Amino acid sequence: MRIVFVTVVVVVVVVCGVAAGDVDDNDVHSSAREPRTGGIIKSMLPYFNLKIKNPFECRPGTRINGYPVLGTCMSQYDCTALRGRIDGTCASGYGSCCILEAGCGDTVERNRTYIINNGTTSGTCTYTIAPMKIDYKVKNSVSEAVGACQVRLDFETFSLSQPDQGTTTPNNASVCNIDSFEVTGNTNAFGKICGENQGQHIYLPIDSKAGTVATITVVMSGATTTAVNRSWRIRTTYIPCLSNMTAPPGCLQYFTDASGTVNSFNLLPASSTTLSQIGNLKYSICFNNQPNSCGMSFSSTRFLLTGAPNGAATTGPASSCAEDYIATTVVDRTGVASTTSGSFFCGGALTPFTTYAQPTVIFVRTDGQETSPTDKNYGFALSYSRAGC
Ligand SMILES: *[C@@H]1O[C@H](CO)[C@@H](O)[C@H](O)[C@H]1NC(C)=O
Ligand SMILES: *[C@@H]1O[C@H](CO)[C@@H](O)[C@H](O)[C@H]1NC(C)=O
Ligand SMILES: *[C@@H]1O[C@H](CO)[C@@H](O)[C@H](O)[C@H]1NC(C)=O
Ligand SMILES: *[C@@H]1O[C@H](CO)[C@@H](O)[C@H](O)[C@H]1NC(C)=O
Ligand SMILES: *[C@@H]1O[C@H](CO)[C@@H](O)[C@H](O)[C@H]1NC(C)=O
Repeated sequence: MRIVFVTVVVVVVVVCGVAAGDVDDNDVHSSAREPRTGGIIKSMLPYFNLKIKNPFECRPGTRINGYPVLGTCMSQYDCTALRGRIDGTCASGYGSCCILEAGCGDTVERNRTYIINNGTTSGTCTYTIAPMKIDYKVKNSVSEAVGACQVRLDFETFSLSQPDQGTTTPNNASVCNIDSFEVTGNTNAFGKICGENQGQHIYLPIDSKAGTVATITVVMSGATTTAVNRSWRIRTTYIPCLSNMTAPPGCLQYFTDASGTVNSFNLLPASSTTLSQIGNLKYSICFNNQPNSCGMSFSSTRFLLTGAPNGAATTGPASSCAEDYIATTVVDRTGVASTTSGSFFCGGALTPFTTYAQPTVIFVRTDGQETSPTDKNYGFALSYSRAGC
């Protein structure tokens, strides 16, 4: 019986591969990816797509918090088995668009799973991020079954209490000791964050040898003094190993646009009067190299890292920015260290600079206290653009 079944499966997979072509998951226009086959094979496709060949993205067209919801096309049976939520159909009506969500205590092991608090607003929530589950590996397949090497988390919403304001004893100003979100068990562990982090993202490498990715712990303690509606919805993307979305090793954040803005964690609106810089963080922000570009220029619309509001910019050696800073290697076109700019930046403003060190990496470090919590340090909004050759 088993031999017969395997044979049928192989035949169907081969037929699908030929008839449907490659169902490329990177293509977001689902109609172009939906397999085009007829009869009995077609009716079985949702099953084989999930279990055997190629789970692929579907977009039911609904939005949550302004973000398009991403699902995975599969059979209704499989969606139910995975405790998914069906939102519309896919594969020309033969499949169900299955939205996968992980609540407190759950394990994430499938692409496009949303990490949600699901109404939990107190206590501790933990999630296990596991390597991507592959139901069946097809040799030489270009499908999702080739596996993933990194996990990207996109914070579609994220609200926790603000960090310690420096009014409690001991003074742990800027530390997330009321509420916190922490990644452990991963080499990109970067500290505890809290506050408002919608729009942020992080990358976590998959340790395929150990078969682990990370544990996420969200702590919500009762000591909150500021009213906050604690909630989060975080989309997980398993990044295919050979994808151009793979971040270089050690990069917590990775930017590939020609220009844009990088915000520090918990960067609040300018009108905020809260100490919002997050303490005890250590991480790297990376940018890809791009054709016809040999360097990168940085400036800031907002910048306050250990300094007085409207205070002077400090750049130079580590000793002049010993507590909280961003750092990068600033060199000219020929690779010679800049004489006009140091490599460590802190204080009340950022002096714009251009560096030709590629790839460009910005290292961020904050310590676990604020010398003057009344300065209400808030972090940075760093604008970047590409410099020509
Ligand atoms: C979220 O809560 C609802 C209602 O209690 C429950 O039906 C659902 O299974 C939960 N989802 C997750 C992912 O825990
Ligand atoms: C995971 O899903 C995203 C979005 O649908 C897709 O771009 C990516 O290629 C998928 N990952 C893998 C390993 O196939
Ligand atoms: C808070 O400050 C105390 C005393 O300075 C220190 O021992 C403790 O580690 C700090 N806690 C955190 C969470 O940083
Ligand atoms: C939290 O949600 C409630 C009910 O939606 C709302 O009235 C309140 O203003 C919210 N509080 C904050 C701090 O956003
Ligand atoms: C990755 O490759 C795709 C398809 O070739 C392309 O559209 C996209 O712009 C590339 N992204 C980056 C960051 O290079």
